[in-house]
Amino acid sequence: MHILIIHGPNLNLLGEREPETYGHTTLDELNHRLLQKAQELDVELKLFQSNTEGKIIDFIHENRKWTHGILINPGALTHYSYSLRDAIAAVTKPTIEIHLSDIHKREPFRRISVIKEICIDQIVGLGIQSYFHGLERLVEYLKR
Ligand code: DQA
Repeated sequence: MHILIIHGPNLNLLGEREPETYGHTTLDELNHRLLQKAQELDVELKLFQSNTEGKIIDFIHENRKWTHGILINPGALTHYSYSLRDAIAAVTKPTIEIHLSDIHKREPFRRISVIKEICIDQIVGLGIQSYFHGLERLVEYLKR
């Protein structure tokens, strides 16, 4: 089973960016732990981060035949990117949206997700555990 894990804009700065909101784990540490988790779950991952909307869309397109599902933290693209939403809808792979923080308890603009409706689930507010829960949930869904 193949899964894409995508980190959106500014998540390259995890660990140093607003740690009171996003925690102290760096992106490299998080990716390393995700690869360990993937081994336990017996799935293969492709991990990707970009600060550029178009590069994320290209990555989804390029891997559409390879992947069975997508786990994505779209960062702020969550709140306004109709092109990212269209890309996810276009490839028709089960997708889970995740966030480190609880976007529903923050500024009003963060409470809106233009991605949510086309995802099978949205997991928020668990810090890096959002990724691990999301991965487990996606694998469970794909194996059902
Ligand atoms: C985030 C929440 C977004 O609102 C924000 O723009 C991010 C991170 C999260 O993981 O909590 O970049 O997606």
